[in-house]
Amino acid sequence: MAGRRGALIVLEGVDRAGKSTQARKLVAALCAAGHRAELLRFPERSTEIGKLLSSYLEKKSEVEDHSVHLLFSANRWEQVPLMRNKLQQGITLVVDRYAFSGVAFTAAKENFSLEWCKQPDVGLPRPDLVLFLQLQLVDAMRRGGFGQERYEDKAFQESALRCFQQLMQEPSLDWKTVDASRSIEDVHEEICALSEATIQDAAHRPLGRLWM
Ligand SMILES: Nc1ncnc2c1ncn2[C@@H]1O[C@H](COP(=O)(O)OP(=O)(O)O)[C@@H](O)[C@H]1O
Ligand SMILES: [Mg+2]
Repeated sequence: MAGRRGALIVLEGVDRAGKSTQARKLVAALCAAGHRAELLRFPERSTEIGKLLSSYLEKKSEVEDHSVHLLFSANRWEQVPLMRNKLQQGITLVVDRYAFSGVAFTAAKENFSLEWCKQPDVGLPRPDLVLFLQLQLVDAMRRGGFGQERYEDKAFQESALRCFQQLMQEPSLDWKTVDASRSIEDVHEEICALSEATIQDAAHRPLGRLWM
């Protein structure tokens, strides 16, 4: 296995599409199949920046919109040395939300362009596979409704979904849309197959840089 790097696999999608469920199941399945795989999530709430973001998301604090966008990006950048290290060691990383959520959630606010929102994340490790868990918002809401955190309302999620769709149109990344309205097991099976193919593919390719 010497020289084989791990793959960077990202799960994106609206709230309740099943990202966290599928990310956990994917890591377990990859490990059971003999791969080395680990789970990451963004925001990573355990760091100092992550604690600021957690408090913001829980509406315990207010942060200016541009400023909080940069903090979400910084929260990804602070994990980059660890990510590169793990990937280099041959560990596949399954990431629950990444820069695309970061961009979509700020660009969904008034007076933010997609271009501006992307800039702080330019150069992050480029995912080898971006899985977009596609689910109608009405179906997502049937899975328990929204919680109390910031951004958890229908109009905002619709706006974020439109931003995701714009990002998906860019040809520079390998997006795979997965129908997330099916059973957990059916979605899992498709995600496993796509991930296995990506792991084989990525092993001998250098890790890229996002949006460069
Ligand atoms: N395919 C599915 N069908 C029905 N319910 C699901 C499915 N996937 C996830 N769920 C349920 O929907 C809720 C949200 O799932 P979660 O994985 O937390 O979504 P996300 O991380 O995208 O917000 C959870 O209660 C989960 O058990
Ligand atoms: Mg989740």
